[in-house]
Amino acid sequence: MRSNKWILLASCAFLLLGSTSATLDNIYSNQTIKDGETIVSDDQMYELGFFSPGKSKNRYLGIWYKKISTGTNVWVANREKPITDKSGMLKLSRDGNLIVLSGDGTKIWSSNSTVSTSYNPVVVLQLLDSGNLVVWDQSRRKQSVIWQSFDYPGNTWLPGMKIGKNLVTGREWFTTSWKSTDDPSPGLYLHTLNVNGYPQIFGKQGPRLLWRIGLWNGLTFQGLPKKTPNPYSSLQFVYNKEEICYKYNLKTSVQRILVMPDDTTIQLLWIDQIKDWAAHSLASKDRCRYGLCGPYGSCNNNRYPPCKCLIGFRPRVPAEWDRVNGSSGCERNKSLDCGSGDGFKRISGVIFPDTQRSWYNQSMTLKECEMACRRNCNCTAYANSDIRNGGSGCLLWFNELIDITECDETQDLYIKFAASELADSQSSFNKKKRVIIVALLTSSVVLLLFAMVYAGKKKKRSHVRERGDWYGFNKKNNIVQMEDLDELPFFPQRRIAKATNNFSINNKIGEGGFGPVYKGVLEDGQEVAVKRLSETSKQGLDEFMNEIRTIAKLQHRNLVKLLGYCIHGNELIVIYEYMTNKSLDFILFDETKSMMLDWPQRFHIIHGMARGVLYLHQDSRLQIIHRDLKAGNILLDADMNPKISDFGLARKFVGFDATAKTKKVVGTHGYISPEYALYGRFSIKSDVFSFGVLVLEIVSGKKNREFSHDNHNDNLLGHAWRLYKQGRSMELMSASLRGSCIVSEVLQSIQVALLCVQHHAEDRPTMLSVVLMLVSKGVLPEPKHPAFYSEESCSELESISSVDESMITLLYGR
Ligand SMILES: *[C@@H]1O[C@H](CO)[C@@H](O)[C@H](O)[C@H]1NC(C)=O
Ligand SMILES: *[C@@H]1O[C@H](CO)[C@@H](O)[C@H](O)[C@H]1NC(C)=O
Ligand SMILES: *[C@@H]1O[C@H](CO)[C@@H](O)[C@H](O)[C@H]1NC(C)=O
Ligand SMILES: *[C@@H]1O[C@H](CO)[C@@H](O)[C@H](O)[C@H]1NC(C)=O
Ligand SMILES: *[C@@H]1O[C@H](CO)[C@@H](O)[C@H](O)[C@H]1NC(C)=O
Ligand SMILES: *[C@@H]1O[C@H](CO)[C@@H](O)[C@H](O)[C@H]1NC(C)=O
Repeated sequence: MRSNKWILLASCAFLLLGSTSATLDNIYSNQTIKDGETIVSDDQMYELGFFSPGKSKNRYLGIWYKKISTGTNVWVANREKPITDKSGMLKLSRDGNLIVLSGDGTKIWSSNSTVSTSYNPVVVLQLLDSGNLVVWDQSRRKQSVIWQSFDYPGNTWLPGMKIGKNLVTGREWFTTSWKSTDDPSPGLYLHTLNVNGYPQIFGKQGPRLLWRIGLWNGLTFQGLPKKTPNPYSSLQFVYNKEEICYKYNLKTSVQRILVMPDDTTIQLLWIDQIKDWAAHSLASKDRCRYGLCGPYGSCNNNRYPPCKCLIGFRPRVPAEWDRVNGSSGCERNKSLDCGSGDGFKRISGVIFPDTQRSWYNQSMTLKECEMACRRNCNCTAYANSDIRNGGSGCLLWFNELIDITECDETQDLYIKFAASELADSQSSFNKKKRVIIVALLTSSVVLLLFAMVYAGKKKKRSHVRERGDWYGFNKKNNIVQMEDLDELPFFPQRRIAKATNNFSINNKIGEGGFGPVYKGVLEDGQEVAVKRLSETSKQGLDEFMNEIRTIAKLQHRNLVKLLGYCIHGNELIVIYEYMTNKSLDFILFDETKSMMLDWPQRFHIIHGMARGVLYLHQDSRLQIIHRDLKAGNILLDADMNPKISDFGLARKFVGFDATAKTKKVVGTHGYISPEYALYGRFSIKSDVFSFGVLVLEIVSGKKNREFSHDNHNDNLLGHAWRLYKQGRSMELMSASLRGSCIVSEVLQSIQVALLCVQHHAEDRPTMLSVVLMLVSKGVLPEPKHPAFYSEESCSELESISSVDESMITLLYGR
């Protein structure tokens, strides 16, 4: 099974048997380190010794965090050659060679670094505060490095470590995944810097390119947030005659490392308060894998199908394109003339295409860059290479443009087009502009209606296409799909029927989103939750299989685990782990049951939910927007640990609230953000909004949807906001919490929640910030007014408050 269990990797405890509390950070050539003995960096952060990874009994020489109790390993010497017992020993030879020996004296591993012994060198091995293990020669006046572990990264990119290439020796610095959490030998995946053309970071599986991080733009990588500088670390791009590499340094004492547990690289941030790592991925591009959309295609993770042709290009094989297979990409509408009047079109909002066949010059201006591209027939595009000082440097592409990903990026790319193509698009652009101006001149009410009708039409169209997929499905296809799905068990229908007493009404435990849920007991006694997905859903089976495959890979302690699936006729069934304490709404909104949920438990639930959503948004290889976060989707296990359910499914199934027995409302009324309600615009920030609503519900014990107050007409959000502005936030708290509450935590939760439900999506924090705000004791930002708050005289808000459910129905044409 492919290892996707980075959580395990990050937190697996290493068996440190009989660790003598050695306080030295170095040894000389007359000393050894036996299994059980260690050396520790001067600041007590890192420790070197023998360990066993995961469930393995094999022994490896490695470095791990000493301070961090989960013992995260950061480097391994004998990755491929373990010692099978505890007789191992590390020796530093007189000539500076580092040797790992097994009990019988066999050489297991050697650093192969030696200096001449003719001048009697004084060699010393030292574990530095940076986690770098260094062999020095101290005999010279100036200490010189004979060997260092930073030159041989494992699966962890530590601060100060380089990823790139030494241009003098030709040696490349790259990280490689482990085979598994139990086996540190190099796995399938590499994280490397490609120095052909403009340097870029690739994730590879052997020679195959899997993903690419956006280009370095002088400040950061394209596609990473740049408005707010990363508070934890600073990235650095080094390019000189000797080396070309990336490295990063920590700005604070917060531990942050980059690990490659699998085919992606994730960042781990140590949060001392919760004694655990918070993780998020550097490249969460599951759909937009490298080159997915082919030449001149552009990919969008949140679109389905994800590929589109750039403006002015058309699919090479249109039929293939519709089936989410854009691999042969797009071709020009009009071929280039070369020389006679080709021009350029500017596009933005994308991560620049692959630069392996590019050329760059950091001191040219944009004008010079354009001239250079015009002069060369083979040049297809140009751009500034650096965004600093209003843009500088020149980057030219000479091949078909490949691997363009749409994202919130402002750097402009200029693509070469035939003059005639430019003329065409100019006139059509003007036409569009006129339409927009007319629309703007009309009143906002008309604009709203216009948007609704348009959105309604659009939705209907895609609805029809989905239907087509459904009927186009054939059995043969199904078999192929199922064979792919070897990791997730298939349950025969009769097994499910038996487990649930033939879907007996007595076994029904709820009506979740998308369909009824039954409790089942498998032959071996394991309790499971069986969810029958409504047949009315218009999702094609093949697409369903895709989704299931993705969700099955998501594993986190705050997500409900998917155990298997079943397809029977047109019915889709998923099998989850069973949660003893049902869902949060069941307890929270019940006067008697809620008494049992004290503040520490509620705070624990808030934390758990936040980390689960963070994982969906950022940790996993695919960015999942839940779209239907609500109390009914937060399940509680026997220890009241929260687990989010229905993630992943929400992407395709969202559109109605099954508990309300209606298919009218998109998402669940009371939890949906204004941009979603009004424009159907979805983003991770819509989930953040729903999360904020949930937190307010947990604190107050009241449903946002059913909230009412004697003095005003506000919903729960408006009420919380009023109290907050008057400094009376504690009054929001449910009376049942008076005995158990911790005032500072309640106030902190309310303020974080208000930040999450702010009207403008861009004001709302990301889930990573939410997690950090919940654990920090620092001063929180001031929230602005929440959405759906009618007191402010903002026309947009007024229009929202007038949108009732029937209008939402109109919007989405369901
Ligand atoms: C080991 O070598 C170091 C440096 O050469 C010396 O200072 C130390 O006394 C030696 N220790 C032993 C036990 O020989
Ligand atoms: C050291 O050299 C030996 C023999 O050439 C080789 O097998 C081994 O992989 C080398 N060790 C390292 C760490 O490169
Ligand atoms: C060029 O592309 C546009 C869409 O961008 C399409 O409507 C038009 O038919 C294409 N023209 C030719 C000549 O293929
Ligand atoms: C996509 O198309 C290519 C070439 O037409 C084909 O080889 C490949 O199998 C297709 N992939 C899928 C997932 O259909
Ligand atoms: C880069 O561009 C500058 C300004 O046009 C020029 O002087 C310089 O020679 C160029 N460098 C290279 C390596 O082409
Ligand atoms: C353009 O590309 C062709 C084919 O790769 C090559 O033969 C030609 O020399 C190139 N022209 C220029 C100006 O680089």
